[in-house]
Amino acid sequence: MRFPADFVFGAATAAYQIEGSTTADGRGESIWDRFCATPGKVENGDTGDPACEHYVRWEEDLDLMRSLGLGGYRFSIAWPRIQPNGRGPANRKGLDFYRRLAGGLQERGITPLATLYHWDLPQALEDGGGWASRDVVERFAEYAQLVFDGLGDSVQNWITHNEPWVTSFLGYAYGVKAPGVTSWPRAIAAAHHALLAHGAAVRAFREGGRDGRIGITLDLTIAEPASDSAEDRAAAERLHSHHNRWFLEPVFRGAYPEDTVELYELSFGPLDVVKDDDLALISQPIDFLGVNFYRPNLVAHDPSRPPLELREADRPGPHTAMNWPIVPAALTQLLLRLQHECNGTPLVITENGAAFADELDGGEVVEDPERRAYLQEHIQAVARAIAQGADVRGYYAWSLLDNFEWEHGYSQRFGLVYVDYPSQRRVLKRSALWYRDLIAEQAGRNGD
Ligand code: FCB
Repeated sequence: MRFPADFVFGAATAAYQIEGSTTADGRGESIWDRFCATPGKVENGDTGDPACEHYVRWEEDLDLMRSLGLGGYRFSIAWPRIQPNGRGPANRKGLDFYRRLAGGLQERGITPLATLYHWDLPQALEDGGGWASRDVVERFAEYAQLVFDGLGDSVQNWITHNEPWVTSFLGYAYGVKAPGVTSWPRAIAAAHHALLAHGAAVRAFREGGRDGRIGITLDLTIAEPASDSAEDRAAAERLHSHHNRWFLEPVFRGAYPEDTVELYELSFGPLDVVKDDDLALISQPIDFLGVNFYRPNLVAHDPSRPPLELREADRPGPHTAMNWPIVPAALTQLLLRLQHECNGTPLVITENGAAFADELDGGEVVEDPERRAYLQEHIQAVARAIAQGADVRGYYAWSLLDNFEWEHGYSQRFGLVYVDYPSQRRVLKRSALWYRDLIAEQAGRNGD
């Protein structure tokens, strides 16, 4: 495998999934605290406490990252730690936590990559309509400004949003993630406001003349038809347009895809959340596109469902514990396609990884051969895309630690490092050691 000399190998996490301490130092309530407290929403009634107790164990976790030789660490900032009610001045203690974290990374030679929004909206803003209400855009711009001012010295790499498709459609249409709303019109509004908020944060960043790079992370997929039938092919196209193009095209072309606009308007009425000049704000140039990739989707037409609630067909071959198919070639295909669709904007894999049912067996290392193979094959898939001309600058494994996997609670383990929740002991998995060796080998090859 060959990677450019400055290619970053890192790992990723998100605040709500690892921090715990959900009421410490003035942190406000987030939509995930509320969702977890609502019976039946999260497996086993699990909540964001204790998670990995990273809020208190962060130094140990930074040492772990250094021991693996990570070049980069992607984390997210909890908005309710910075603005407990989603508005007003910064809570100094909240900012201090991330200052210490970013400083600790720098001391260890690990480049920070900070995500402003990874799904933990202050509940007070949800009470005012959340992402479905246009007011959230101004709130987000204010929050972004506070974070840039507070952390801009130590963080140079920023992601505005993590997976706005999930924020809006899984949060407001399907309701399987916080805030658990089930309204397609509100979801469509939420998607637009998330993109507008992205644009507003990019504008604040540029106007501040700040050093560094800013981008957005999308969850992108390859939508394949389950058969050659015209219906299945049309269904796969609909998924591609609703899931990928609905976010890529406003950002990179300044327009929403016509076919999906028509479909939304037919079902839910005029798209009047989109105002003049919105698309100009959304389509400001960004420095990189973050790509989260786990699996492709095999799509079958299902006449019993609305046109956008698509049925995923079973695919033969290996699957992860999430029942996600393992198809590394789809990642090569995706990266090569994006290279054309994104005006040559550099790409960064901001998440990729797999859940398996890992077990502590008393040994010093948790054996996880399937994850190791998953990572190896997907990293090879990235190398192939680069060899064919894709401009990919980094790869962040999801995740550094086993953590709170949203509506699945603690039942799904994605970590390179096993977390024994009762004792909070961290135990390396074999995949972490493999990743460490890969990073060292690449550095050796590049003469560092
Ligand atoms: C992504 C999320 C991340 C994690 C992985 C498994 O959609 O961004 O927080 O839950 O899936």
